[in-house]
Amino acid sequence: MNPSRTRLIEILVGLIATQLIVFGLALYIFNEPQRVSEAQTQIFFTQLDSGMTLYAENCAVCHGLNGEGIGATPSLNNPGLAAMPYEDIFKVIERGRFGTAMPAWSKEDGGPLSDYQISELTTLIQSGDWNATGDRVVNLGLAPLIPFTTEPDSDLLEAIGALEDGAILQAAISTYASSCVACHGADGLGTAIAPALNDPAVREKTMDDLTRTLTFGSAGTLMAGWSNQLTPEQISGMVTLIGRWDEIPSGAIPAPDVPIATTVESIALGGDLYAANCSSCHGPDGQGTPRAPALNVKSFLTETNDQAIELIVTGGVPGTAMPAWGDRMIAANIQAIVGFIRQWEPTAPEVAVPTRPGGGGGPPWMRNNTTTPAQPVQPVQPIAPTPGSETGLNLPAAENVSPETVAAAPASPQAQPGTGQGHAGGTGGPAWAQSAAPQPVWWETLDWPLLIGLTASLSIVFSLILAGLSGLKKE
Ligand code: HEC
Ligand code: HEC
Ligand code: HEC
Repeated sequence: MNPSRTRLIEILVGLIATQLIVFGLALYIFNEPQRVSEAQTQIFFTQLDSGMTLYAENCAVCHGLNGEGIGATPSLNNPGLAAMPYEDIFKVIERGRFGTAMPAWSKEDGGPLSDYQISELTTLIQSGDWNATGDRVVNLGLAPLIPFTTEPDSDLLEAIGALEDGAILQAAISTYASSCVACHGADGLGTAIAPALNDPAVREKTMDDLTRTLTFGSAGTLMAGWSNQLTPEQISGMVTLIGRWDEIPSGAIPAPDVPIATTVESIALGGDLYAANCSSCHGPDGQGTPRAPALNVKSFLTETNDQAIELIVTGGVPGTAMPAWGDRMIAANIQAIVGFIRQWEPTAPEVAVPTRPGGGGGPPWMRNNTTTPAQPVQPVQPIAPTPGSETGLNLPAAENVSPETVAAAPASPQAQPGTGQGHAGGTGGPAWAQSAAPQPVWWETLDWPLLIGLTASLSIVFSLILAGLSGLKKE
């Protein structure tokens, strides 16, 4: 072989190898900082994300939907607080503020949260998006009831005065309406935040146990000790009320009249759940069927507030075909359905025209003929709860909508705040409840390896041609 040819090939191979090394290095140098910062950004957003869920489960009840503060409880969404040193904020959450309603949250201090979870909350307070946090709280069905308090029904209160120890019960009911209803719910029936007190299982507890819980609270939960706010007589009155709640007429302590908060996602979820679980009886558009009354009518919607609808749906209507959905659905899902139903109000007809189930039965003008004799009521297929399924009901909708919704939302209607451990490092909430990822800058969207690879191959081809040309010239 021509020695100059061999030399040329050697030079070419050397050139290509050098170029490959240079481009490999360039590629690495280019990508590494981006990879590292991408990973950091990812961690940051994951932290913020689980911070929002922790906030919803543990803090929103006192600090408000969007961290705006409720009553005497300070806001957390204020720039002054965000500018405080990280360690100071961390310490307040870790240890609480002694002698105030702000509990200690760290496991070391008897609370439910790990240091990592407290750091996530601190990150949220320093750099969180409070609107997105509010959406998360709503989507998890944990929106706090504001105002905190309610007025007892005056007629019923008077009737209660006639019971044995009536004055004690009356006073206890007033205390309950001002201090406990926001967490333990209307008539002591419980909420997503705290368990029912109007419950046989609680009535069975000893006076001593109840007095202890009321006086010292329940460590690591939202249940604070009340010895600072209530006198021993008041506490003993509360214990009397809890023990005799079965004698108190329902409606004595109405729910605060607070519309259920909604988000775009919660209404969409509510619509899907309604279609799957309610439309067979109440009609696809809530117009009613011979099986069940219309919900999409002015009279019903204006007379029944959100809390009342939630109570009906949760408890069912005993002795009728209307099931108690509280046994089968988490509170967040029931609230989503109520939010969906409420949307009908502005356009609700004065009089609803029930459709027939099965949809058959002639042209619309015949079906709409209100003078036709009422259809005989169809026998209703009982809805058998499926034991073992997450919600206790075979819920096609919940599964079709988004399985994570049921899995990620508090696992029971009585979701206990303070048990946020399960969410450590979790993705925090259903996919739709999560904040949108940050929009990348244009150069982040470029495929750098491809670009560099292309440039590399182009320049190799180019140098090959050059070398070939000069080789030809020599020959
Ligand atoms: C039972 C009601 C309650 C709950 C639940 C609660 N807080 Fe508080 N928090 C308070 C009160 C009351 C204060 C004001 C204490 C004081 O007077 O110094 C406070 C103060 C704070 C402060 C200091 C604010 C400031 O401006 O100095 C931070 C930070 C804070 N809370 C974070 C949280 C976090 C995070 C959670 C959830 C893990 C939480 N809180 C849950 C009642 C509560
Ligand atoms: C900030 C929310 C909140 C407020 C306000 C609140 N509680 Fe509670 N309460 C809870 C939670 C959460 C639990 C469950 C604690 C647990 O899991 O151990 C609880 C538990 C209890 C229990 C024990 C129930 C049982 O099954 O043993 C009693 C009794 C009780 N609360 C009474 C009251 C009374 C009376 C008031 C008003 C003076 C009140 N609570 C105010 C959240 C609250
Ligand atoms: C098996 C049939 C059936 C299903 C399924 C059903 N309901 Fe009902 N519902 C009824 C009947 C029957 C009534 C009327 C009860 C009565 O006579 O007071 C009723 C009553 C109601 C009421 C009170 C209406 C009023 O005018 O007072 C509401 C609200 C309601 N249902 C909501 C729902 C929701 C939400 C769902 C789905 C989660 C649902 N229902 C599923 C049969 C059903």
